Amino acid sequence: MIKKGMIATLVFILMFALVGCGGSTEKTETTEKKITVVTDAAFAPFEYMDKGEIVGFDVDLLKAVMEEAGLEYELKNIGWDPLFAAIQGKTADMAVSGITINDDRKKTYDFSIPYFESTHMILVKEGSSIKSAKDLQGKVVGVQNGTTGQTAVEKILGKENPNIKKFENSVVAIMDLLNGGVEAVVTDNAVANEYVKNNPDAKIVAFEDPDHFESEFYGFMFPKGSELKQKVDEALKKVIENGTYTEIYKKWFGTEPNIESLQQ
Ligand code: ARG
Repeated sequence: MIKKGMIATLVFILMFALVGCGGSTEKTETTEKKITVVTDAAFAPFEYMDKGEIVGFDVDLLKAVMEEAGLEYELKNIGWDPLFAAIQGKTADMAVSGITINDDRKKTYDFSIPYFESTHMILVKEGSSIKSAKDLQGKVVGVQNGTTGQTAVEKILGKENPNIKKFENSVVAIMDLLNGGVEAVVTDNAVANEYVKNNPDAKIVAFEDPDHFESEFYGFMFPKGSELKQKVDEALKKVIENGTYTEIYKKWFGTEPNIESLQQ
């Protein structure tokens, strides 16, 4: 026979368990907030829109790194200039966008360890007289506003040169090259190569000029002093060491990455 006292005790235990559970769920919600990651998804193969989704090398790498770090996140396509404003104003926690780590940016932002080596390339129409960076002199040259490509062209043409046409993103810069608005576009090598590969009918060629364009490295970007940096760095290191990075690299570039170049 079940006694009244026993029932009362059971009900009490049940209520305690329910209240206890509710309390602890609330706690995890407040301590583990989703991380907001921002990007400019007009930079294939690093990040671009495909059927309404943001895809690319950076997107896959971000996923692997955040999984390794055990962090929940949401990736938002907000555009290049807004991305810097969002990190500076701390309305976003992290940016991934083929962002070059350099001293100027380091004054305002923190960066992860490097994850990709890049240099610049010149895109021109087939048959163009532009064969080197020097040939850009006197020509109208398109760049994405606020990129290291812009800085590289400014070094050759001069900072305030009106012949430097600045675009919101690399896609529109290349469109303008096709339409004859600019005679050349300077952008990151992997992006230039990807465009040429995907658009054989556009009759556009891409070439490097190691005398004028230095090598640079991409990193994830954070607000200055962000606590995320250390977690992301550790996870990124693991992802590079355990072969996940190589897999992602091969998927997007079809070749083996030079991991040593990242580690020096
Ligand atoms: N690597 C260059 C820079 O940091 C260009 C990056 C542009 N990335 C983009 N998603 N639009 O200035």
